[in-house]
Order: sequence, then structure tokens, then C-alpha cells
Amino acid sequence: MNAYAGRFAGRSAVITGGASGLGLAVARRLVAEGGRVALWDLNPDQLALAANALGGAHTEQLDVSDAAAVARAADASAAALGTIDILICSAGITGATVPVHEFPLDSWARVIDINLNGLFYCCRAVVPHMLANGYGRIVNVASVAGKEGNPNASAYSASKAGVIGFTKSLGKELAGKGVIANALTPATFESPILSQLPPSQVEYMRSKIPMGRLGEAEESAAMILFMASEECSFTTASTFDTSGGRTTY
Ligand SMILES: NC(=O)c1ccc[n+]([C@@H]2O[C@H](COP(=O)([O-])OP(=O)(O)OC[C@H]3O[C@@H](n4cnc5c(N)ncnc54)[C@H](O)[C@@H]3O)[C@@H](O)[C@H]2O)c1
Repeated sequence: MNAYAGRFAGRSAVITGGASGLGLAVARRLVAEGGRVALWDLNPDQLALAANALGGAHTEQLDVSDAAAVARAADASAAALGTIDILICSAGITGATVPVHEFPLDSWARVIDINLNGLFYCCRAVVPHMLANGYGRIVNVASVAGKEGNPNASAYSASKAGVIGFTKSLGKELAGKGVIANALTPATFESPILSQLPPSQVEYMRSKIPMGRLGEAEESAAMILFMASEECSFTTASTFDTSGGRTTY
């Protein structure tokens, strides 16, 4: 029995990276709590599987680093869902795991393009729909890497620090307009993204977590759902933490 059944009744959400990991965990709970979702993702096979697992969902197969595709998807999702009340930006990649002086230029550019520029394109395209309704909740998924900096992950750390700064700016711009924007900074949790990293890097990140274990996607999803709910009414431009004690600020 879900204690929050009905919390998102009548609410519609766009979830980028919604076909996998944290985005899919958020989608599952939003639907379980009465909401409707549009999943945006690069991976068509995962999208089809995710929509099927949810018993049907509007999907948009796109690359969030393509600003024109993102703008088209925002209009299509608003038409399909009736409105967009909630935006969860979870799409992301890790990039290379090497020191700065060896970092491939193409990997740097791709990480910034997806994790930071793409997230900006999504917020830019969806905010007008929220302002038109005078209501919105935006959750941008950053990382503890954006606060602490992980060695050999400079592009990822920089992109996630950018997400935190961007969300502070966005939240302040929208304050008083009914649209609330916050960021999440998870420490490492179990998900397919970890297959992009050498096991030694995952072990390094686990060793930094005082609870001594990796998180679960569902633990970060639970925090995101609070930020996406009406109850999150006096916190904006802020950063919430799910890091097993790694970051305390
Ligand atoms: N798993 C972790 O340990 C961890 C920790 C901190 C932050 N995060 C962040 O959480 C978010 C979700 O990660 P996850 O662990 O669920 O990973 P995941 O790989 O399971 O999911 C990411 C999804 O984003 C999609 N995606 C990637 N590039 C895209 C693009 N250009 N356009 C559209 N979709 C794209 C992928 O297809 C995938 O479905 C990411 O932003 C990640 O950086 C993850």
C-alpha cells in the first residue's frame, strides 16, 4: 500500500532519462501515486520497455542536447498530457574516467552538452508551459560530484556543479510565479549508468559514503517526489541531498 496514493492525481510530468535508472524509478512512483508521465530518452528500446512496464506512457525519443528536438517534444508532450506540471531532468552520462591532462575533447564536449546544455534546453522549453498555468515543479538531477569534485571525472563534476548553479538561478527567477525549481545531489546509487565506469571508480565513490553502501534509485526517487509535489511550497533554488552522509551541506 502506497502511503502517498493519489498525491499526483491530475498532475502531468515530463521525465528526461525516463527510460532507465532514476528517471524510471520516479516514473513508476508518479504513476503509482496517480500522475501521468511523458518519458523523454535517447534509447528507443529502453523507452518501449519502460512505457510497457508503466502500462503505457507518452514517449519522446530524442537527444536532450538537440535544442530544436527538445522544443518540439515539449509542445508534443503538453498536447498529449494536456499540460506539464512537473519536469524531472534525469538524463545524463558519465564521460571518460581519466585525469584532466588526458581528457578527450570529444568526451568533455558530450558530457557538457548532455548534462548541462541539454538540461538548460529542457527547462527553457518547459518553463513557458508552467508559467502559463501559474504552477510548476522542476527537479534537476545533479550529483555529489558537483559539490565535492570526483577525481578523474572532471567533465562530469563540472557539469553537475553547473546544474546546481543553474538551478539556483532558475529558482530565484521563478520565485513568486508558482514555479519551484530545486536540484538533487545523490551519491552513487545502483543503476545502469555505473556500467560506464571502471569498477575501481565505483569502489572509490562507495568508500566515500559513511553509510558504507551504494544507494538505491528508489531512495533518490522518494526525495524527488517530495520536490515534485505541491507540499514542496517554500523551498526553491535549493539542493537536496541523498548521499548516505557523504555531503552535509
Ligand atoms: N547512478 C548514480 O550513481 C548517480 C549518482 C549521482 C547522480 N546521478 C545522475 O542521475 C541521473 C540518472 O542517472 P541513472 O543512474 O538513472 O543512469 P541511467 O543510465 O540508468 O539513466 C540515464 C538515462 O538517460 C538517458 N540519456 C543519456 N543521454 C541522453 C541524451 N543525450 N538524451 C536523452 N536521454 C539520454 C539514457 O538513455 C538513460 O535512459 C543522471 O543525471 C546521473 O548523472 C547518478
